[in-house]
Amino acid sequence: MQSVEPDSVASLELQRTTCARIPTPEGSFRLCHYTNTLDNKEHLALVMGDVVGGEAILVRVHSECMTGDVFGSLRCDCGEQLHAAMRAIAAAGRGVILYLRQEGRGIGLGAKLRAYNLQDEGYDTVDANLVLGHQADEREYWAAAGILADLNVQSIRLLTNNPAKIEHLRELGIRVVERVPVESSVHAENAAYLETKVRRMRHLLQLPAVAPPTLDGAYLLSELAQKVESVRDRARVYSAERGLPFVTISYAQSLDGSIAAATGKPLTLSGRTAMTVTHALRAVHDAILVGVGTVIADDPRLTVRLVAGPDPQPVVLDSQLRLPPNAQVLNHPRGAWIAATVPLHGAPAPGATMLKVAADRAQRVDLVDLLRVLAGHGIRSVMVEGGRQVLSSFIEQRLANFAVVTIAPRFVGGLQAMSIPPRNGSGPALPHLANVEYVPAGADLMVWGDVEWAA
Ligand SMILES: NC(=O)c1ccc[n+]([C@@H]2O[C@H](COP(=O)([O-])OP(=O)(O)OC[C@H]3O[C@@H](n4cnc5c(N)ncnc54)[C@H](OP(=O)(O)O)[C@@H]3O)[C@@H](O)[C@H]2O)c1
Repeated sequence: MQSVEPDSVASLELQRTTCARIPTPEGSFRLCHYTNTLDNKEHLALVMGDVVGGEAILVRVHSECMTGDVFGSLRCDCGEQLHAAMRAIAAAGRGVILYLRQEGRGIGLGAKLRAYNLQDEGYDTVDANLVLGHQADEREYWAAAGILADLNVQSIRLLTNNPAKIEHLRELGIRVVERVPVESSVHAENAAYLETKVRRMRHLLQLPAVAPPTLDGAYLLSELAQKVESVRDRARVYSAERGLPFVTISYAQSLDGSIAAATGKPLTLSGRTAMTVTHALRAVHDAILVGVGTVIADDPRLTVRLVAGPDPQPVVLDSQLRLPPNAQVLNHPRGAWIAATVPLHGAPAPGATMLKVAADRAQRVDLVDLLRVLAGHGIRSVMVEGGRQVLSSFIEQRLANFAVVTIAPRFVGGLQAMSIPPRNGSGPALPHLANVEYVPAGADLMVWGDVEWAA
């Protein structure tokens, strides 16, 4: 969108065309319709009482959010904020809601829905916009300034949690004399979104200290938190006794055992709730480990984003140093650790650390040696998140202590979770899970248990 300098607001030919009475459950408003020559969109003002010439008028500058405002989507707090603003204005007896037609923080509805899909893959609301080639926030407020001038509102008390909005409006010459907060309710669907607004967009919201991983069904929050914490405690005891890290394997599969599409293309299997629980589990492990195949296929970031908690140290098994130089994990805040068997000539990226590990018989990373090396670096627990070959190696070599498998209720017909050859009655038996717990997580089922082998 073309940007507008403060002194050119008046020349936008912003025209009020008509106003009409709009009775709502919150009270009776007048809706005024505006046209303009800059973006040709129909910006609106929902006005209650006499505001003309008024000082300290209660104003909400609301950008259109069709999903939240019209359909009541729980992904954001827009609809809730809109109605809270209408109630506040009704209580004050007068005020204005400026309804600006800049959907999805200005990126448009189609792009916003694409960003939602990226968020379901684990990107936060800021990164999802950036990945799509947009800015985190593309909104502009020249129409707000124009409409307030048309209504002859002298100064405003702004209903907002967003300090950047106040700054923009002041730059456009609007006298904001007070910020009036609009609190939103926090729940499983919007917790990560609100937390991102606070952390990355400076929003002034009072959120619970930890955006809680909320489970649907029979499990209470406290029970889940206890369960996750107990993994941390067990890992501490195990590593103190054995001198090696405790290993949790974790992956998501379909009903037919697929962990990826047949093409090896990335596939989002877990829903938001199971992903939130997985991130809570990541946060209680010292390291998170994947094979280079997963980095090449999925380019994961391996961070904790859906809950508040420390990022575990990312470790990539990459015997022959095939890691793409632009892999996202190389930008990890902790710096990636690359476990290789070939001679090392420097790190593949600033911040990456090379771990020289012995080779196994297949010339790949020897996992027992790797666990020793990680223990030497103070790692007491590792969450192994894939892919197929790495998960298989940890199971076949009896190196997994705990398993968390998310089962998504769909059939995929893709890449199977394990590449373990059929046993045909020979070869060592494969393990089972003991002390199994079934944790319903949204539409998914998470199966947790100790990995145990028959004697
Ligand atoms: N649904 C899920 O939860 C989930 C999670 C993760 C991944 N995935 C999927 O899994 C697929 C990737 O699986 P993948 O089997 O191709 O790759 P992978 O298991 O991620 O990585 C395998 C590579 O790791 C290296 N490696 C080094 N030492 C190893 C060892 N001891 N054992 C096994 N591998 C070792 C080998 O490459 P070098 O010989 O070059 O070192 C090997 O080719 C992707 O399609 C991804 O989407 C799904």
